[in-house]
Amino acid sequence: MTLTVDHRPEALAGPPKLTREQLRAAQEETLAAPRMDYSLLARMMFKPVDLLYGRQGSFTKFAMLEIIARVPYQAWERMGYWAVHRYRTRSDLARRVFERIVEARSDQDNEQFHLLILEDLVDRQGIRRNWLLHRVAPWLISFFYYHVSWLLFLVHPKSSYRLNAEFEDHAEHSYMEFVADNPHLEFVPDPGAYTREYGHYRSVADLLRQIGHDERVHKLDSLEKMAEPRL
Ligand SMILES: [Fe+2]
Ligand SMILES: [Fe+2]
Repeated sequence: MTLTVDHRPEALAGPPKLTREQLRAAQEETLAAPRMDYSLLARMMFKPVDLLYGRQGSFTKFAMLEIIARVPYQAWERMGYWAVHRYRTRSDLARRVFERIVEARSDQDNEQFHLLILEDLVDRQGIRRNWLLHRVAPWLISFFYYHVSWLLFLVHPKSSYRLNAEFEDHAEHSYMEFVADNPHLEFVPDPGAYTREYGHYRSVADLLRQIGHDERVHKLDSLEKMAEPRL
């Protein structure tokens, strides 16, 4: 007898890839929408980033933000395995927790490609990497964010999702504003370093709009989880 296994959570495709028109519309929507009201914790992360990398967006600053963007998903994945183990005798609950783990892994992959794309853009600008800005600062901020994320998730999961939603909102607005402030990016072709994994766009402006839209999807996912009852 063959045993068929269905309903196994598959690797998720991640946020949708938009057409050129949809990307422009998404940018308009973001620019017209107010930013979220950022909490003290979120501002504690944004402030040192602004001080070290400048208030204005840049490929270097975005690469740094992408290093830390993956951190909460990583923390939730780890907490998920802990919860699966804890609830291993309650199959319904264990299954729902596992679905969250699969989602957290997919979001980490998406953030990982943002980082790789940004690092490639930094390279193409010929920017030399600096030990403090590219190694020490991202590590310190990620360390802080990781521990805040899992601790918050343990005591009050909604606050952990809220903090991530604020971080994603900040990223979404930063990308869309950067594209608006740098119209020359419309004429810089997408170098296509990760076309196979992330798609190919007409310009670097569109590539960054797509990343900005991904951040919006991440934000909406976190806000949705905040509204759901605790698992
Ligand atoms: Fe990202
Ligand atoms: Fe994100």
